[in-house]
Amino acid sequence: MFKVPPDSSRPTLRAQALPAMTIPSCIVRLLLAVSVLCLASCSKNAAPAEAASAPAKIKLGFLVKQPEEPWFQFEWKGADKAAAQYGFELIKQGVQDGEKVMAMIDNLAVSGAQGFVICTPDVRLGPAIMARAKQRNLKVVLVDDQFVSDGKFMTEVPYVGMSASRIGTKQGLTLAAEMKKRGWPIEETAVCAITFEELDTARERTDSSIGALKTAGIPADRIFKAPQKTTDIPGSFDAANVLLTQHSEVKRWLILGMNDNAVLGAVRAVEQRGFTADTAVGIGINGTDCIDELRKAKPTPFFGSMLVSAPGEGFTSAEILYKWIKDGTPPPLDTRSEGTLITRENFEAVLKKEGISE
Ligand code: GLA
Repeated sequence: MFKVPPDSSRPTLRAQALPAMTIPSCIVRLLLAVSVLCLASCSKNAAPAEAASAPAKIKLGFLVKQPEEPWFQFEWKGADKAAAQYGFELIKQGVQDGEKVMAMIDNLAVSGAQGFVICTPDVRLGPAIMARAKQRNLKVVLVDDQFVSDGKFMTEVPYVGMSASRIGTKQGLTLAAEMKKRGWPIEETAVCAITFEELDTARERTDSSIGALKTAGIPADRIFKAPQKTTDIPGSFDAANVLLTQHSEVKRWLILGMNDNAVLGAVRAVEQRGFTADTAVGIGINGTDCIDELRKAKPTPFFGSMLVSAPGEGFTSAEILYKWIKDGTPPPLDTRSEGTLITRENFEAVLKKEGISE
């Protein structure tokens, strides 16, 4: 490369009657500048040349509101499968509040991701999340909980989730059938409906379940709603306890809720008051968060669950996002999964078939 001429060479230049100090320093500066530019452009060119031999993988985020819930862990498992199949990189992260979502969108952009799947901690964050994603040039696919803006679903954002009303209807019909099978008199029986009406998919499930119970002949005045403050077991345990205190006359309970944890909390609450599998029946939704419960040696009031494929939803949401980025394939705007009843009788076989347990 270029070398600054040693001092000893300067007299030679001077001897040629060239303006002694100015020309060499000009040349030196010029050559230095040229060499710096050359170095910079060489190193710039080197990166794509190396990258061409090993193209950078597409990077996607998968953000979920409750990473501790098995449902979301199974969704991640499904998304991992899609990543392995298509060869993209998956960044999985829990985003329990709006601040975490926004920070994570920035992180994803900085790390070179091109999009993310999200189950938002609050559906009303939809417009803010979409604005930030647009600003950061990231594509968005929704899973489970659909964004809401001004009280309306943001149907323009691709969504993968449950057929909430059909699954809720099945839950209600199954509870009514179990009550009839057991010959429970309606005067002694009541419904404990754990609700979380701020979330549309949750409200659709519990409304449909209650609707099905009414259709099956349960009078409206035997159906009691217990709103949960948080969507976890302690949240539904507390909600059920309030209701059980108000209705200590009820001898048999039918229990419904938007997911397994909603029903599990209520099951723990009725057990604490002496109810057993002979006097209470609960049916959850998800099928992923009740596996240990169904494996207990002694049956509890948790009778079964409407199983929906969490790995399937995780796979599909990640897959449609990947294809959108890679090939420009526009994703379907609304993809729904159905539910299958699992009970102590069939759950091991069904979960194995769905790839949920070994
Ligand atoms: C909501 C619930 C989850 C699960 C999903 C399924 O996000 O919080 O437990 O039921 O819906 O779509």
